[in-house]
Amino acid sequence: MLKGNLLLLRPVRRSDLASFLKWFNDPEVIQYLNHYLPMTEMAEAKWIEGLADRSRTDTPFVIEAVEGGGTRPIGNLGLHGISARDHSATFGIAIGEKEYWSRGYGTEASRLIIRYGFEQLNLHRISSGAIAFNERSIRMHLGLGFKEEGRQRDVFYKNGAFHDHVMFGLLREEWKER
Ligand SMILES: CC(C)(COP(=O)(O)OP(=O)(O)OC[C@H]1O[C@@H](n2cnc3c(N)ncnc32)[C@H](O)[C@@H]1OP(=O)(O)O)[C@@H](O)C(=O)NCCC(=O)NCCS
Repeated sequence: MLKGNLLLLRPVRRSDLASFLKWFNDPEVIQYLNHYLPMTEMAEAKWIEGLADRSRTDTPFVIEAVEGGGTRPIGNLGLHGISARDHSATFGIAIGEKEYWSRGYGTEASRLIIRYGFEQLNLHRISSGAIAFNERSIRMHLGLGFKEEGRQRDVFYKNGAFHDHVMFGLLREEWKER
């Protein structure tokens, strides 16, 4: 478990299935993600069960908001495609409970997992990306120290139009300097 002030990060449980189904079937949430309707119970359950075999390459956590003496699951995040050879991984995050958007939870959760990636997993580089209209995510990445490394044109078809993919990278040395 990784602890912050507003939240903590804990391992995924089978009982998270209902939350995942809610978050990843919400059009407002998935417009920002490489997910498309419908997200079925079978696909989500398979993803959860598959985590056991991907423990060397994926570190998914559930984000729990700490409040009123308890906690509430509000989203998930992780480092994926961890390469032991290149010391690299790709970051992903989704806060599925929309009332928690724009309140600092994404930034704090990301800081925790970035620190974990560099200090515990011995990563050298973390890659990430955002759909070009996702201004909140782009601001968050830049605020975390990610550098924009380029744009792939018209990668995602969302809301009736093609959108660019903004690519980010963060190196351990840059992160340490901050
Ligand atoms: C993207 C996401 C992780 C950001 O987390 P968050 O908790 O909502 O954002 P934060 O409160 O930490 O704010 C991050 C930055 O965005 C800015 N921001 C907040 N709301 C914003 C908005 N509506 N438009 C533009 N910028 C906004 C904040 O000011 C902050 O920037 P700053 O540090 O320069 O002030 C979260 O909104 C989310 O999961 N959204 C749905 C799924 C998604 O987009 N996932 C990411 C895919 S790349």
